[in-house]
Amino acid sequence: MSNALKEYLSFCQHRVEQALEMRLPSENILPKKLHRAMRYCVLDGGKRMRPMLTYCTSKTLGMNPDAVDGIACAVEFIHVYSLIHDDLPAMDDDDLRRGKPTCHIAFDEATAILTGDALQAMAFEILAHDNSILASAENRLKMIATLAKASGSQGMVGGQAIDLESVGTQLNLPELENMHIHKTGALIRASVTMATLAKADIDPITATKLDHYAKCIGLSFQVKDDILDEESDTATLGKTQGKDKENDKPTYPALLGMAGAKQKAQELHEKAIDSLSVFGTEADLLRDLSLYIIQRDH
Ligand code: IPE
Ligand code: IPE
Ligand code: MG
Ligand code: MG
Ligand code: MG
Repeated sequence: MSNALKEYLSFCQHRVEQALEMRLPSENILPKKLHRAMRYCVLDGGKRMRPMLTYCTSKTLGMNPDAVDGIACAVEFIHVYSLIHDDLPAMDDDDLRRGKPTCHIAFDEATAILTGDALQAMAFEILAHDNSILASAENRLKMIATLAKASGSQGMVGGQAIDLESVGTQLNLPELENMHIHKTGALIRASVTMATLAKADIDPITATKLDHYAKCIGLSFQVKDDILDEESDTATLGKTQGKDKENDKPTYPALLGMAGAKQKAQELHEKAIDSLSVFGTEADLLRDLSLYIIQRDH
């Protein structure tokens, strides 16, 4: 990872941690168990890649990070909700997440379902009236629509449905790509789109180029996640390694072999870089981030 990216990632991780903490209800407010579970799942964990993307995009556009704190939190709340539900026994049945017992293990299944539900609602509440967001009412509405579509049946939840339906079946490459674009790509893309909506009067070409970049890294992110599930180890990942094979999931390494999956990740990275050709050095963090996504070890 470049030093510039390392520094900015650390800045964003601290920043979003504080922003999330102040937006989460206190454990002393009823219902205490639910609020404890929300804080347990959201705080002190994860790479914060989606907030990082929101902050990096806003920096590329010359904005102040204050203007996207709410957006970064909203997208992370949706992401954490998706992880909590993804780990449930009815889905991937995982007991380790971000190096800690998953929500349904640390609490119970009903609490895990409700924690995800509550985080999802909070994300939209934030977009609707968080003071950090200075965008026009029209752009706020567009952010809400963007996150809703990226989260729902034509986004993350749709991808998760395909994932579960596909267990034990053989997907072809376009089908696998479609699944990944939805289950993981959609939210990553929304992290960038919402940052562009925070910028008043952004020119359409800039927005389109950033969107194309986000589409490429959204897919490479899940290709790399599949690779890590096979190649990494539980301690490094903070989640149980080897679960995709155990659950007979369709993945890039399963379809293309490990070398083919790595080649695919590299090609997507190159496409992401090409999408940024209209930018100068102001997009270097986004370039570094794309490389980090395919080179990371967890
Ligand atoms: C894991 O996402 C689930 C996927 C969508 C691939 P991350 O790898 O971003 O998980 P955290 O947030 O760092 O825990
Ligand atoms: C999850 O994909 C995508 C989500 C929408 C959460 P995975 O099931 O591969 O994510 P991990 O490997 O459990 O983090
Ligand atoms: Mg899953
Ligand atoms: Mg999973
Ligand atoms: Mg995975």
